[in-house]
Amino acid sequence: MARGPFPAFVVLSMAFGSVVLLMSTGVRWGVRRKVRTSFNGADYLEDSLAGNQTRYRVLATSEETGGESFTVEILIREGAYGATRGKPGSQPGHLHLQQDEQLEVKKGRLGYWRGHPSLAAEVAADDEDAMVVIQQGEAHSLWNAGGEGGGDLLLEATFRPAGKGEAFYETLAGLGHDYETALAVSPLQKVLTYHRGGAVLTGMPQWLWRLCEEWLVPLAEGFGYKAFYPEYSTRAAGTPSAAEALASVRAELADY
Ligand SMILES: *[C@@H]1O[C@H](CO)[C@@H](O)[C@H](O)[C@H]1NC(C)=O
Repeated sequence: MARGPFPAFVVLSMAFGSVVLLMSTGVRWGVRRKVRTSFNGADYLEDSLAGNQTRYRVLATSEETGGESFTVEILIREGAYGATRGKPGSQPGHLHLQQDEQLEVKKGRLGYWRGHPSLAAEVAADDEDAMVVIQQGEAHSLWNAGGEGGGDLLLEATFRPAGKGEAFYETLAGLGHDYETALAVSPLQKVLTYHRGGAVLTGMPQWLWRLCEEWLVPLAEGFGYKAFYPEYSTRAAGTPSAAEALASVRAELADY
C-alpha cells in the first residue's frame, strides 16, 4: 500500500486528536449514557440508535422566521415504534398550548386523530388536499398509516408561532438516539421536555398532568435533567458531528 504524504506520527496524532474530539463531542454515550451525542451541524436527527424509526430534519428555525414559526420534516418509517400498538411512530396523545400545527403529507399515508383517540382519520400524499391543521390546544397524535408494505411517511410540520422552537423536536429525537429508542427515555425527562416545550400530555386526567408538572418537573430538574440540550441543536455552530469526526479519522487512516 502506498504511503501517504504524512509521517506516521502526524497521522497518529491526528487520529488521536480525532478520538479525543469524538469523546468530547459525545460518542461516549455508549459507555456512560449521560454523555450526549452532538448533533450540532447535522442535517438529520434519528430518534433511534439503529436509525430505522423516525427521522427529523429542521427545515426552518424559529430564529430564521423571527419567532413566527418553525418547520420540521418528519420521516416515519413503516416499522417505527409507536406509543400506540399498530400505529407506527405515534406519539402519546398531546396538545400544544400556544401553537397551531400544520401538516403537509409529502409521501405515504398519514394517520391521525384530533380531539379524541376514537376520531381517527387518514390523509395520503396524493390526495387533492394533503394537508391537516391541528389547532392550538387540540389533543392529537400522528402515525404512519401506510400499513404493511406501505413504505415511509414523509411530513412537513410547521408550528405557529414558534414558541420554544424546534428544540422540542430535536431534544425528543436526540434523546431517543442516545437511549437507543424513544421508548427507553425516562418518563421524568419526557414530562420535563413536554412541559417546557409548551405541550400537555392528554392521555391522563388533567389534574394528574398538573400534578406531574408541579412535582415531577422540579424532581427531574433536581436530578440534573434539562428540558433541552445544546448537543441536540442541529443548527448550533462549531462542533463537528460524531459521524463527521469518525469519517475524518477513517480518511486519514485510509491515506496512510
Ligand atoms: C431496527 O434495527 C434494530 C437493530 O438492528 C432491530 O432490532 C429492529 O428490529 C429494527 N426495527 C425495525 C422496525 O426495522
